[in-house]
Amino acid sequence: MAVLDQLSREFLGVAEAAAIACARTMGQGDRRDSDRVAVEAMRKSMDALPMRGTVVIGEGERDEAPMLYIGEPVGRGGADDVEVDIAVDPLEGTNLCATGAPNAIAVLAASNKGGLLHAPDCYMEKIIVGPSAKGRVHLDASPKENLEAIAKSLGRKVKDLVIIVLDRPRHEKLIEDIRTAGARIKLIGDGDLSAGISAAVRRTNVHAVMGIGGAPEGVLAAAALRCLNGHMQGRLVPARDDQDEERFRKMGITDLKRIYTERDLAPGPDLLFAATGVTDGFLTGVRFFGHGCRTYSLIMHSTENRIRFVDTVHLDGDSSAVVEF
Ligand code: FBP
Repeated sequence: MAVLDQLSREFLGVAEAAAIACARTMGQGDRRDSDRVAVEAMRKSMDALPMRGTVVIGEGERDEAPMLYIGEPVGRGGADDVEVDIAVDPLEGTNLCATGAPNAIAVLAASNKGGLLHAPDCYMEKIIVGPSAKGRVHLDASPKENLEAIAKSLGRKVKDLVIIVLDRPRHEKLIEDIRTAGARIKLIGDGDLSAGISAAVRRTNVHAVMGIGGAPEGVLAAAALRCLNGHMQGRLVPARDDQDEERFRKMGITDLKRIYTERDLAPGPDLLFAATGVTDGFLTGVRFFGHGCRTYSLIMHSTENRIRFVDTVHLDGDSSAVVEF
């Protein structure tokens, strides 16, 4: 049994705890508060786990994030506990939760030491596709070329594809190119991580994600894609050229033109990925009822080749609780 398999149930519990906490704030219009409660719940449940974890993708640098900052030790930390690197996004889509829009999720991934790239908190240009288009797309190819390759890999026409793009002014040209090529587009307000997972799963009616999103979300997407046999290519986009380039160099990143694949971003042989729906979307959001709540999650483990869609009823301990099928 791979080392991380023993933690998969616990990781599911961590994602569920974060999702339940922030789902209570859905539609309250306060994205920071939604994020705060998700972070606190994730951190609290993670600290009970038998592991010596280090956050490598988190809420920010040590001086800007009170909890789950990069480098923070998490877990029980016993001498015999397994050593793991952890990537977290306690609430991916803070605006989505604050406005009750679809596809907010609570996410974390883990790997053996060194198995997740310590990506800087900057943007990343991405293309994400499912298993059939692996090896057929390229970040430097034109959108038209990539769309034709994706369509061919799926045995359909370009006009039958649905491509997700973050609705941002920076994507004006990309959107125009996709429209000209004839594919359908789903513009999203936030949440290119759950979009990337959808692109790697058949029957979601999403065939690719294109454009610039967060680099930390890119690493988490890569961990998911490794479990789903999907494919992505990403290139870091420095925001403030001089400052960012200096920061990258300090992190050992010198080649700014480098294209990273899912294997470069999440190289670990042993990868665990857990996500729980907060609002409805690719994963159904948290449902609250009189005696508890119900959550819908995805938990995957690369080494065990196991993908589980988990539907959990959490009872609040009331002896008169009624469970519905
Ligand atoms: P948050 O969860 O931090 O709100 O991020 C949501 C998100 O939309 C990501 O899915 C995406 O990668 C990134 O923000 C895009 O950044 P920006 O909003 O600056 O374009």
